[in-house]
Amino acid sequence: MKITITGTGYVGLVTGTCLAEVGNDVLCLDVDARKIALLNDGGVPIHEPGLEPLIERNVDAGRLAFTTDVDAAVAHGEVQFIAVGTPAGEDGSADMAYVLAAARSIGQRMREWKLIVDKSTVPVGTADRVREAIDEELAARGARIPFAVASNPEFLKEGAAVDDFMRPDRIVVGTSDERAIATLRAIYAPFQRNHERLLVMDERSAELTKYAANAMLATRISFMNELANLADRLGCDIEAVRRGIGSDPRIGWQFLYPGVGYGGSCFPKDVKALRHTAAQLDVPLRVLGAVEAANEAQKLVLVDKVIARLGEDLSRHRLAVWGLAFKANTDDMREAPSLTVLAALARRGATIVAYDPVAMDEARRAFGDVPWLTFAKSPMRAVEGADALLVLTEWKEFRSPDFAALRSALNERMIFDGRNVYDPDAVRAAGLEYFAVGRR
Ligand SMILES: NC(=O)c1ccc[n+]([C@@H]2O[C@H](COP(=O)([O-])OP(=O)(O)OC[C@H]3O[C@@H](n4cnc5c(N)ncnc54)[C@H](O)[C@@H]3O)[C@@H](O)[C@H]2O)c1
Repeated sequence: MKITITGTGYVGLVTGTCLAEVGNDVLCLDVDARKIALLNDGGVPIHEPGLEPLIERNVDAGRLAFTTDVDAAVAHGEVQFIAVGTPAGEDGSADMAYVLAAARSIGQRMREWKLIVDKSTVPVGTADRVREAIDEELAARGARIPFAVASNPEFLKEGAAVDDFMRPDRIVVGTSDERAIATLRAIYAPFQRNHERLLVMDERSAELTKYAANAMLATRISFMNELANLADRLGCDIEAVRRGIGSDPRIGWQFLYPGVGYGGSCFPKDVKALRHTAAQLDVPLRVLGAVEAANEAQKLVLVDKVIARLGEDLSRHRLAVWGLAFKANTDDMREAPSLTVLAALARRGATIVAYDPVAMDEARRAFGDVPWLTFAKSPMRAVEGADALLVLTEWKEFRSPDFAALRSALNERMIFDGRNVYDPDAVRAAGLEYFAVGRR
């Protein structure tokens, strides 16, 4: 099938590449000419495990191409996926400008039936707005061309995006248009060969499903974070509690890890957008308000522990930081807790030497040129001469460090573990002080 993807970011690039991998002829469009030039030169603008060889293979096979040419992109695909960003606007609502601009540009150029698929995370009612935008553009040029719109929210996780797309838990399709359903069923058939995972529903429910999923996951994280803070005060071990509740099948193991708060390009903005939608309708979403407030507070939990141990004035302290990305296996720094943690430490005068396996370029851009932050070439380089180590991202390469070497490198021999990756006994046995989130 000929497919166009508008928006070649984390979602669009993975979607386009995976659809090409199963044999489709995919053209990815973006307004960012640098991104497209990089892709056309064989580069990959994001870090996503397994993506690079897949892009290369499909480009070589002639099934995957990248362009900034909107005319060519609209002409190419019978199916037009919209995967552009939907960032939070000033009032917390999702900014729909990019989605609607993409819809309009399709409406201005289409010549025959198209299926327009909203893959971006969009508020309830967006499918209607996309339809209206296209109708208006068609009317403006006196064209009467049939088309269909479907909502098809994406559930992939950064860091595991290729696997998630290739082996989805479910594929949500929101539309009542029979041709659209048949088309999307055909597109997704290769990804669900052992059993049907396509859930067809009305478009508004599909739109809400995506927000409901992210809000539920954010809720679990904030709940565990607050429990961990309580465990700290009670002298309990949240790791034991996690095992004790995760084994309950009604609760399950996923997303029960306390830490320094959730971040990334989705949870923060999606929680805000859902709250905004509810507020407009005067429907209280009290739980979600608390989830957001708890998350903001959680980002400072580790900073508070540093201050409690080293004092309010950190101006004589050099701190090493391992991990900057909002989670492991990605270079995404959007809303990363490290942004808040490092800024709070710097406000108290600390200097910081940071290391992240892949996010340092993004971090340089996010922090700008500030005198208190430098980057190290390796985890051990970061700790040499530092007073204490803070772990902010749960990268595998941080999981089993040489504690004896850390003890010699760190002046104050302290680890502040914002992801609970270490065994407290092992760290202490190595002669280091250990502070984590809700651990004895
Ligand atoms: N990143 C994730 O893990 C994830 C997961 C599920 C859903 N989503 C949702 O998917 C959507 C995209 O997220 P992302 O992380 O891929 O964003 P992104 O910022 O990585 O990519 C968006 C891309 O769209 C491009 N763009 C903007 N307007 C355009 C236009 N008119 N024409 C062509 N290109 C245009 C931008 O230049 C950018 O490259 C968002 O709604 C997000 O909430 C993201």
